[in-house]
Amino acid sequence: MNPLNIVILAAGKGTRMYSGKTKVLHALAGKPLVQHVLDCATALHPQQICVVYGHGGEAVPRAMQQYAAKFVIQEPQLGTGHALQQAMPHLGDDSRTLVLYGDVPLIQQSTLHQMQQAGSGLVLLTVHLDNPTGYGRIVRNEQEDVLSIVEEKDASPEQREIREVNTGILLAPTNKLREWLANLSNNNAQGEYYLTDIVCMAVQQGVAVHTVHPAHEWEIHGINSKSQLAVLERTWQQVEASRLLAHGVTLADPARLDVRGKLVCGRDVEIDVGCIFEGEVRLGNDVRVGAYSVIKNAAIADGTNISPYSHIDSSEVGANCRIGPYARLRPGTRLHDEVHIGNFVEVKNSEIAQASKANHLSYIGDSSVGRRVNIGAGTITCNYDGANKHRTVIEDDVFVGSGTQLVAPLKVGKGATIGAGSAITHDVPEEELTLSRAKQTTVRGWKRPVKKK
Ligand code: UD1
Ligand code: CA
Repeated sequence: MNPLNIVILAAGKGTRMYSGKTKVLHALAGKPLVQHVLDCATALHPQQICVVYGHGGEAVPRAMQQYAAKFVIQEPQLGTGHALQQAMPHLGDDSRTLVLYGDVPLIQQSTLHQMQQAGSGLVLLTVHLDNPTGYGRIVRNEQEDVLSIVEEKDASPEQREIREVNTGILLAPTNKLREWLANLSNNNAQGEYYLTDIVCMAVQQGVAVHTVHPAHEWEIHGINSKSQLAVLERTWQQVEASRLLAHGVTLADPARLDVRGKLVCGRDVEIDVGCIFEGEVRLGNDVRVGAYSVIKNAAIADGTNISPYSHIDSSEVGANCRIGPYARLRPGTRLHDEVHIGNFVEVKNSEIAQASKANHLSYIGDSSVGRRVNIGAGTITCNYDGANKHRTVIEDDVFVGSGTQLVAPLKVGKGATIGAGSAITHDVPEEELTLSRAKQTTVRGWKRPVKKK
């Protein structure tokens, strides 16, 4: 089989988004529309990917620079045929060219594979719609052979009755495509160079025209407005939810879940309502995630229970931990097994070893905490001196009394106890009680101020 080129048309202005941002950079499931298409395209291992973008769309090549793609500008925009013409100089003749769209984000690899297998001629992706309004119609003869595509604005009343429509996605031999595109004219209702006119040319030359249908209608939905974007977002989230349910995940409500990336779950995972998963998240067996938690780029090991309203970002959580409610694990947090992080506790760039607990109102930053350590309520590691960050080391079996400030850098030796309300500024010896506290005094006969009349 000939090598594959993929051209992604993305020059449309997106006027109906009413946004300063280029249309194809708006996000669906947390990822720019065009990036969905680029990921799908890349997975097909083509010889060349070419993105056609429009004037003012310089942000597109900038945002997508990590992809091995050629970015070609189309200016002015004279139609889909004209857009594809801009890519042709970058495509070798001995190949096939697949045309995708930067604003049709959910096209699936499996459908594109089917197109590649459909035959060596011109392959069109078409779909039957109950309401075909706005789409180009697929015109066939009595033998059901495709004759042409007619745009809605150029169609006769009879042709407008046709419910098989052009999705725009097609696959063609590159040398033929080059020849056909060179012969396009803009003699039509919109004065545009229609890519769809190549179908007639193929038929006239006796090149076989095949049609393939997508496995799901949502694969071919394009985005022109915020409202279409919102609808397709919900559709995709339902697909994600169904996939999780099919794998045995318990979802309190499949309609109240957002996966913006890749969520991998073990057995008997339970997810309550309103949770958001971003980037790559792995939940082990028997993990429970409480309502309205936001988890991003994290791995949570077996049996861990995350209570509601917890935020976890770029962190690793061991097995049988108890997190939240209202816990915040910031990037670089690594919790070993059986760690408890309670309400209003923030952990950043810290490692906490097995069975240690910080249950209430604390900040643990740039720290190493040993095993079986108890961090009392309101403990703060003062990691920042206004210019630099410093580390706090707390060894095994330490008990930190409530309301303690640990002014880093410092080390608390194993088995040490720190008295509540201490401001600790130097290393703390092992196994001893250390405290820093003003003596308690009582002022006899002192009266509270009263409000002046
Ligand atoms: C096109 C098809 C129509 C099909 C429909 C599916 C043609 C002539 N018609 O119509 O048969 O049913 O898509 O949605 O192809 N674009 C450019 N440069 C241009 C014009 C368009 O890059 O100069 C890109 C747009 O960004 C968009 C896509 O091509 O992603 C489709 O363009 P649009 O103008 O929406 O085509 P339709 O009129 O909807
Ligand atoms: Ca369109």
